[in-house]
Amino acid sequence: MFESCRAHHLNFLQIHRLGTVPKPPEAPHARIVPCVMISLRTEKRGITMRAWIIGIVFGSMALAANTTSSTPVTYNKDVLPILQKNCQGCHRPGQVAPMSFLTYAEVRPWAKAMKVAVLSKKMPPWFADPQYGHFINDRSLKPSDIEIIAKWVDSGAAEGDPKDRPAPVAWPADGWEIQPDLIVRGPETAVPAHPKNNVIEWSYITVPSGITEDTWITSMQIRPSEPSVTHHICVFFKPHTPDVIYNVPYWYDRKRDESGAAVEADAGINGRGIPDSVTDGTNGIEGCYVPGQFTQDYRIFNAGKLVKAGTDIVFQIHYTPNGKETTDRPLIGFTVAKEAPQRRYVSFGISAPSDPKHFAIPPNDGNWSSPPAQAIFQQDVELVYMFPHMHVRGKDMTYKLEFPDGTTKTILSVPHYDFNWQLAYNLDQPLQIPKGTKLTVTAHYDNSANNKFNPDPNKTVYYGDMTWEEMMFPFFSIVVDKGVDARKILKPLSGRANGA
Ligand code: HEC
Repeated sequence: MFESCRAHHLNFLQIHRLGTVPKPPEAPHARIVPCVMISLRTEKRGITMRAWIIGIVFGSMALAANTTSSTPVTYNKDVLPILQKNCQGCHRPGQVAPMSFLTYAEVRPWAKAMKVAVLSKKMPPWFADPQYGHFINDRSLKPSDIEIIAKWVDSGAAEGDPKDRPAPVAWPADGWEIQPDLIVRGPETAVPAHPKNNVIEWSYITVPSGITEDTWITSMQIRPSEPSVTHHICVFFKPHTPDVIYNVPYWYDRKRDESGAAVEADAGINGRGIPDSVTDGTNGIEGCYVPGQFTQDYRIFNAGKLVKAGTDIVFQIHYTPNGKETTDRPLIGFTVAKEAPQRRYVSFGISAPSDPKHFAIPPNDGNWSSPPAQAIFQQDVELVYMFPHMHVRGKDMTYKLEFPDGTTKTILSVPHYDFNWQLAYNLDQPLQIPKGTKLTVTAHYDNSANNKFNPDPNKTVYYGDMTWEEMMFPFFSIVVDKGVDARKILKPLSGRANGA
């Protein structure tokens, strides 16, 4: 029995490296579940490794039919609607999860693991404290849904009557999350297998968009071809200038110590050493791909972003090698409005002070409090989206508003941040923010040995670009009337604001 568990786990490890389909922890339609897996993820130098703890479940008692319930719980009637709503977004071909949950045949072998994953709240991944705010993309399960999945598994995981089955969801084709009207090809980047200290500095590369008339885009998805090495990709829209140089990367080699961390004098926020001309004329970052999040959808809020004719796209790219030489060929997909939307969607990112005097996480500190990132809204806006960003020592992040009348309101709290799942939070109702309101974002970091993702608890950690350095960079987006000048909306009090 133990050997068979081992074989499954080897398979599981391999899929993350090689991208093949994982073997479920039980054979299709098996009555006996040989083992239960709990994954531990350790993030070191950007490489995700998974260690598997093997637990052994004896016998098939757990799967004995539940005869107490008069109406049996079935896949078609009870479970599939939950999977469609909460799981298939990731668990289908071409998406982030390694196995598909579209059909009974695909789902059945995972039944037991599903019960474990939903009871432990490991799945679906969701990190917002439910006390604050309601989010339209909240995939977390209601207690009644968890109970249905558990009951279904305990009673033998039956398929049920095909007549009870809801229609399949019409997911976008070819593995897109959105169905793009327009696709732009990004720059090709060769990612070496083993650069020194595993460092590849961020670089900036400009490509033509091919957009020849003013276009309102209503959603954007960035798709690396090699997600296993992609730490992030962010994009800027830049008005075309005749002197633009396409497809040439710009980067700056920070002075680094033997472990690959930037020396104190070279710590700080990204963009250092990059010629201003590379991002001149842009309004800052328009959107990003990070693990766990790749689409910004403005349609939810009846809004769009205007991309002017002839715009060039600047890619800010960061790869973390995984020991295999590869070439990333990202794409950006856009949906396009037929008519100009009434409202404009504007993305911002602010930062805590990033100099080593203010941002230095002491060794072995399990709860270091970062100085806050702060900004003031200089006109009325509606807040729609928040996206906390830290690295592997990031522990929690909280967004708070202080209104002009002095009242305060916490609008997002992520008490257990996970670098492997950088989720964004779309508010289900836009939040009205009057002019003069102050946004304060606070965060804590765990630089102790208790943090299983910590590559070295004995180091002072400065602000920097690499996963083993730290960042405190909360993003958020607002909607305003379409005529508003994005650059005048926000006054940052700490560091860096975009208005794109
Ligand atoms: C945001 C994407 C996402 C959503 C939504 C999601 N999953 Fe997953 N799931 C993953 C990924 C990625 C993995 C691969 C393992 C990992 O990273 O831990 C996974 C792994 C699993 C596993 C394997 C066991 C384990 O513990 O690793 C099960 C079972 C599972 N998911 C069930 C579900 C169920 C049931 C739902 C819906 C109720 C769901 N997932 C929703 C992304 C998702």
